[in-house]
Amino acid sequence: MTDFNELVKIRRSHRKFTDEEISPEHVQSILRAALMSPTSKSQRAWQFVVVDDKTDIEKLADAKDLGSQFMKGAPLAIVVLGDPQKNDCWVEDGSIAAVSMQYQAEELGLGSCWVQMRGRGLADGTPADEVIRGVLDIPANLNTLCIIAVGHKADERKPQNEDNLKWENVHAEKY
Ligand SMILES: Cc1cc2nc3c(=O)[nH]c(=O)nc-3n(C[C@H](O)[C@H](O)[C@H](O)COP(=O)(O)O)c2cc1C
Repeated sequence: MTDFNELVKIRRSHRKFTDEEISPEHVQSILRAALMSPTSKSQRAWQFVVVDDKTDIEKLADAKDLGSQFMKGAPLAIVVLGDPQKNDCWVEDGSIAAVSMQYQAEELGLGSCWVQMRGRGLADGTPADEVIRGVLDIPANLNTLCIIAVGHKADERKPQNEDNLKWENVHAEKY
């Protein structure tokens, strides 16, 4: 097991994956991390759609013009949803769940990458949210925040460089 001190250093975004599927145990561990993540007022109002169908993953990758094509090579995509009408912290709750899944994936030796969908879309003005809703039959009250692409790493990434951390952005006592 990788301790958290190390995990935060080695986690990097991975966008190249092998064809190997993710085991059901690993999928469950990743979702478990999301379901244990902290939420505003302990609402736990997020919803997740786990997609491993290649055709559907390809359609999701086409939901926006930039930054999502790599997802076509991912064996697993976890769509993070929230209800803006019921939860004013749906973005925060979803983000924390998404990142928790990324750290759990890393701890399992898997690669992952956040694919932003909220506020993104196609050049013709179609929101990514609308495309995803059509592909996955998502109810009208739920919005897509992001998709976490997961797979077995096919690329190597260097760990975070301790020397490049922006300590100057941290202010002691007062700004
Ligand atoms: C809110 C958010 C949105 C992101 N959107 C995308 C995206 O749409 N496509 C993508 O390839 N990476 C996306 N990323 C991944 C970032 O590009 C990546 O985290 C950043 O470059 C730092 O690299 P690292 O994760 O390897 O440390 C996103 C990350 C965050 C936190």
